[in-house]
Amino acid sequence: MTSKTSRDVLGRGLSVLGRAIREQPRIFAVAVAGSVLFGGLVIASAYIVGAVVGDVVVPAVERGSVGVAAIALAAGALFGISVLRVVGIFGRRLGAGYMQFRLQAAYRRRVTRRYLDLPLSWHQRNATGTLLSNANSDVEAAWYPIAPLPFAVGTLVMLVGAVASLFVTDWALALVGLAVFPALFALNVVYSRWMAPRQARAQRLRAEVSGIAHESFDGALVVKTMGREAQETARFSARAGELRDALIAVGRLRGVFDPLLETLPSLGTLAVLVVGAFRLRQGAITVTELVSVAFLFTVLAFPVRAIGWVLAELPRSVAGWDRVRRVLDATGEMPYGDVALDPADPTPATLTFADVGFAYEPAEAHLPGVEVLGGVSFTVPAGRTVALVGPTGSGKSTIAALAVRLVDPHTGAVLLDGVDVRRLTAGSLAGAAALVAQVPFVFDDTVRANITLDRPDIADEDVWSALRLAEADGFVAALPDGLDTMVGERGTSLSGGQRQRLTLARALAGRPRLLVLDDATSAVDPRVEAAILAGLRAPTAGGPAASIMVVAYRRATIALADEVIYLEHGRVLARGTHTELLATVAGYADLVTAYEQAETDPQQQRTPDEVKPLASGLEIEVDR
Ligand SMILES: Nc1ncnc2c1ncn2[C@@H]1O[C@H](COP(=O)(O)OP(=O)(O)OP(=O)(O)O)[C@@H](O)[C@H]1O
Ligand SMILES: [Mg+2]
Repeated sequence: MTSKTSRDVLGRGLSVLGRAIREQPRIFAVAVAGSVLFGGLVIASAYIVGAVVGDVVVPAVERGSVGVAAIALAAGALFGISVLRVVGIFGRRLGAGYMQFRLQAAYRRRVTRRYLDLPLSWHQRNATGTLLSNANSDVEAAWYPIAPLPFAVGTLVMLVGAVASLFVTDWALALVGLAVFPALFALNVVYSRWMAPRQARAQRLRAEVSGIAHESFDGALVVKTMGREAQETARFSARAGELRDALIAVGRLRGVFDPLLETLPSLGTLAVLVVGAFRLRQGAITVTELVSVAFLFTVLAFPVRAIGWVLAELPRSVAGWDRVRRVLDATGEMPYGDVALDPADPTPATLTFADVGFAYEPAEAHLPGVEVLGGVSFTVPAGRTVALVGPTGSGKSTIAALAVRLVDPHTGAVLLDGVDVRRLTAGSLAGAAALVAQVPFVFDDTVRANITLDRPDIADEDVWSALRLAEADGFVAALPDGLDTMVGERGTSLSGGQRQRLTLARALAGRPRLLVLDDATSAVDPRVEAAILAGLRAPTAGGPAASIMVVAYRRATIALADEVIYLEHGRVLARGTHTELLATVAGYADLVTAYEQAETDPQQQRTPDEVKPLASGLEIEVDR
C-alpha cells in the first residue's frame, strides 16, 4: 500500500463506517444512546466521588465522625449511577453486537448472491480461495470496527462534556485536559496510519493462505498420486509463514502503541495533581474539585481507548471493504430481457446459431482476446439431434456454453425458437434448455436432491423416469438408501460414469425442450452411451421431447444424429450426415477413426470397472 492510500485510509475508513450507520441507523442510535448514557455517568461519577471525598471523607477524617444521612446519600448516589451504567453498557453492547452481526450477515448474502450473478468469465479469472475469503474474512474485517464504534462515539461526546465541565471547574485544569485529550486522539490517528499497510498486507495474505489451502485439498488426488505432499506442504507453509510475519508486525506495532495510549491519561492525572495542588494552595479550587478532576482523568483513560480500537481497526476494515466492494461492483452480469417462454410448452425447441463469434477475455487486460469461434451458423431443428464433432480445443464446449447462455456471443446471435436468448426473461431459458457439462458436478446431498435441485414440481416418479432415461436407475436402485443415499462431496462415493449419468438425469428431470450434452457420457460404456442417446431420441410416453445438441466422439453415438457439424479452430468446416462426412471430409474421417481405434485397441482398452488415474488426477472409469 502506498503512503498516499495509507494517508487517506482514515477518510475512507470513516466513509465505510458511515455506510454502516446509514444501513442500520436505528440499532446504531440505541447503541450510541447507551454509550452516551454511560459517558455522562462516568463524568457524573467522577464528581460524585469528588463530593463523597470532599464532603464526607475529609470532614469525617477531620472531625472523626460523619452523619449517617451523608453516607446514605453518597452510597445511594453511587449505587444509582452504577445501575444506570449497567443499563448504558447493556444497550451499547447489545446494539453494537446486533449491528455488527447483521451487517456481516447482510454482506455475506450480498457477496454470495453477486457471485451467482456474475458471468462465467469473471469466475474463471478469480480463484475459489479468494472468493471464499471475500465472503468470509473480508466481510468480517470490513465490519470489525462496528463493535467498538458506539463506544467511541459515546466517548467523543463524553470528552466534550469532560472538557466543558473542566472549564466550569477551573481553567488551569481545563488546559491540562485540552493538552491530554487531543494528544491521545493524535496518537490514535498516527497509530492507525502506521497500522494501515500492515493490516492490508495481513488481510491479503489471509486470502492467499486460504486460496492455497483450498487448492491443495481440491487437488489432493493429484498431490498424492504425484507424490508432491512435501512440496505442497512447503508451498503452504511459506505463505503461512508470511502471514505469521505480517501478523507479528501488526502485533509489534500494537505492542509499542498500546502502552503509550495507556500512559498518556496517567500522565494527565499526574499533571492534574501537580497543577491542582498549586491551584488548591491559591484557593482557586476546593478539595472536592481536585479529587473530582483527578478521578475524571483516571476513569476517562479506558473509554478513550475505544476511539483507538476503532481507528486501529479502520485499515483492516478498509482493506476488507475494498475486497468486498470489488465483488459487489464487478460488472458483466448478463442483463435479461422481457420475452417470456411458455413454461408448459411441451414441444421441442429450435436452436439457431447465426454467424456467432466469440473470444475469451485475455488473462491480462492489455492482451488481445483470443477468438475461439468465428462465423458459426447452424440450426438444431425442433425434435432433431445434431452432433458437434471436432478436435480438442475446436470450440465445442464454448458452443455448448453459448447455447444455454453461460456466455454471450461477441458477434452474431444465439436464437431459441427464433428469439435472441438475450431477450428472454431470467427463468425462461433455464426452464427451456439444459446443459450437461463436460465435467459433472454433484452436490454433497442425497441422490434425490441432486436431481430435483429443489425444483418443486419434480416428484419421485419423475426422478425415476429421468434416471431410467439416463440409464442410471439400475445403480441408484442398488444404492443402500436408494434415492435417499448421500453421495458425498462432489459425488466422491460415485464412479465417474455414475456421476455423469446422475447429472444427465438432473437435466432430464426438468423436461428441457433443448438438451445440450457436452461430452456428457464420455465415462460411460460406449454401448450404454448409444443406448442413452437412442432413448432420448425416441422418448417413451412421459419422457421429454427435446431437441438435442450433443458433443460426441464415438461413431455409434454420432451415427444416431440427424446431422453432424464438423468444427476445426472455431469454424464450421463441414456439415451433413455422419456417412456423408465420413466419405467427403478427410479430417472428420481421421478423427472418428482415430478415436475408434483408441477405443478398440487392446493396448488402450479398459476393462469394465477399471479405474485409470491420469496425470491430471481425474479418473476415468468405464462402467458395465
Ligand atoms: N476460460 C477460457 N479462457 C481462455 N480461453 C479458453 C477458455 N476456455 C477455453 N478456451 C480456449 O478456447 C478454445 C476452445 O475451447 P473449448 O473448451 O470450447 O474446446 P472443446 O472443443 O470443447 O475442446 P475439448 O474437446 O477438449 O473439450 C480453446 O483453444 C481453449 O484453449
Ligand atoms: Mg470441451
